[in-house]
Amino acid sequence: MLLAAAMAAAAATAAARAEGAASAAAANGIDMPPLGALRAATCVTCHGAARPVSGSQIPRLAGMPAQRIEQAMRDYAAQAATGDLMGQIARGYDAQTVALIAQWYAGLAPEAP
Ligand code: HEC
Repeated sequence: MLLAAAMAAAAATAAARAEGAASAAAANGIDMPPLGALRAATCVTCHGAARPVSGSQIPRLAGMPAQRIEQAMRDYAAQAATGDLMGQIARGYDAQTVALIAQWYAGLAPEAP
């Protein structure tokens, strides 16, 4: 319970920092995407943004609840979920970065492929 609260606080801090960075960039006249979108750049190469790469079997993440994405990433990292790729990928991201990515994907409206 305490850990969950601490994690939520950490995620909120990260989000606030991302917003701060985004508004600083806006003040400089630079149109920066949100930090979650930037951190998701690798994911987008396979999962796409609003829709996955056409013709691929790769699952769509757009609109998926953030908690489900975060749980899947924890399972992959702990090798509790099997797959050829995601285990390797998931071990390269900390919980805070995964939370940012998951929030960004959860907020995307899914499009038909
Ligand atoms: C090289 C291609 C590739 C990249 C890059 C990639 N994924 Fe995946 N992902 C897959 C494939 C393929 C699957 C299908 C299941 C499997 O192989 O484990 C998958 C499955 C998933 C799932 C499970 C979806 C479900 O339906 O439960 C999640 C969540 C996920 N990926 C998140 C991410 C995130 C977050 C990133 C970026 C940090 C990412 N993936 C990067 C290929 C990729």
